[in-house]
Formats: sequence, C-alpha cells, structure tokens
Amino acid sequence: MSEQRDRWAELTAGQAGEEYARRFARLAESGHDIHGEAAFCTTLLEPASRVLDAGCGTGRIAIRLAELGHHCTGVDIDSSMLAVARRDAPSQEWLPGDLARLDALGLEPRFDLVLAAGNVIPLLAPGTESTVVRQLSAALRPGGLLVTGMGLDAAHLPLPEPPVTLAEFDHWCAQAGLVLRQRCATWSGDPYTEGCGYAVSVHARPAR
Ligand SMILES: C[S@@+](CC[C@H](N)C(=O)[O-])C[C@H]1O[C@@H](n2cnc3c(N)ncnc32)[C@H](O)[C@@H]1O
Repeated sequence: MSEQRDRWAELTAGQAGEEYARRFARLAESGHDIHGEAAFCTTLLEPASRVLDAGCGTGRIAIRLAELGHHCTGVDIDSSMLAVARRDAPSQEWLPGDLARLDALGLEPRFDLVLAAGNVIPLLAPGTESTVVRQLSAALRPGGLLVTGMGLDAAHLPLPEPPVTLAEFDHWCAQAGLVLRQRCATWSGDPYTEGCGYAVSVHARPAR
C-alpha cells in the first residue's frame, strides 16, 4: 500500500460509499445522464472487450459497461465504495487494491481498455501518480487504451486546487510508453481547448 493516504481518503475518511451512490441516484432521478463515461468508452471498444475500471468506486461505470456487454474488473482501495459495488452487482469482479501496487493483484496484463474516471488521478496519494500511470499502462495489451477523466481547476475537483497538471500527466504517460490519441473536454466528446477545466484523455499503448 502507498505510504501516504490517497487524497480521496483524506477527503472522505473511507466512509463515502453510500453517500456517493445516493448522489448519483439523485442525479439520475432528476434526469441527468450518469453514464457518459461508459458511453464514451464503448465507442472505443469492440464488443465483449476486457475493461479494467481503476478506482471503480461504487461500480457506477463498470456496471454500465457490463450491461453494454463488456467484461469488467473493478479495483478500488476504499472498502466503503466497493461494498456498494458488490451489493449492486454481486456477480461482477470487484477487487480491493492499491493502484500503485496493481501488479500485486496478479491480473493478466491484457486489458483492452483501462479506465480511471471520476478524478482518480488527481485523488491518488501525492507522489504516487507516475507509479500508478506505469501500473495502469502495464495492465494493457499492446494496442490497448488508457482513458482518464480529470478536473484541471477547482470547479471540476473536490479539492481547493488541482494537484496535477495535464503536462505532468502527459509526461507520466509518455514515460510509461503511452501515446496521446485523443483529448476532449467532456465525456460527450466536446473538443478540448487550452484552459478547459476538464480533460478526457485517451492514451494508447503502441501495438508491438
Ligand atoms: C471520486 S471516486 C471515483 C469513482 C468512480 N471512478 C466513478 O467515477 O464513479 C475516486 C476513487 O478513486 C479511488 N482511489 C484513489 N486512490 C486509489 C488507489 N491508490 N488505489 C485504488 N483506488 C484509489 C478512491 O478510493 C475512489 O473510489
């Protein structure tokens, strides 16, 4: 496990699962589309692809991707979040684990897509980000995709200021052998322009 607690744990003390699920249930009830990430990912995937939802939380996205026909594994370090995922989709694979030590879970590194949505990257433990990106890259098959969504300003983060810049993130991806393929400002695919508060990035692991 990381020596320092992740920023999510600092914010929530590991108790956020039920409230997080209720927040999205309320959004869905009021007519918001809470499946933008899954819809975005599925446009990048062949039918019945293998997806790793890294920092899956309550399983909101992995459950939807499974409904869309993909094979999803969810990994998260927060047991209150995973408890909701297990309750809502007991037949899916939910693994407790630290993304900085993903290799310790013994997963076969053959995922078609690894997803880190919902500000997982900015909410990691400080100083572990480049290690996590390397671990996520290593879980991909050649030609596989890393898809991330992260806030770049306080309006798009549950933090007073962004701990990670896009330039730093791209640098960690390049160090991990990943190539930027696409960048949007939203999960609906709106074009990214310099200064946007949110970035959806698709990095590819080059095919051998
Ligand atoms: C804001 S939640 C997003 C959950 C989910 N991806 C979603 O979009 O609904 C951020 C998640 O990242 C997870 N996380 C942060 N650091 C982690 C780490 N080192 N290993 C595994 N999960 C981590 C947290 O436990 C939390 O569930």
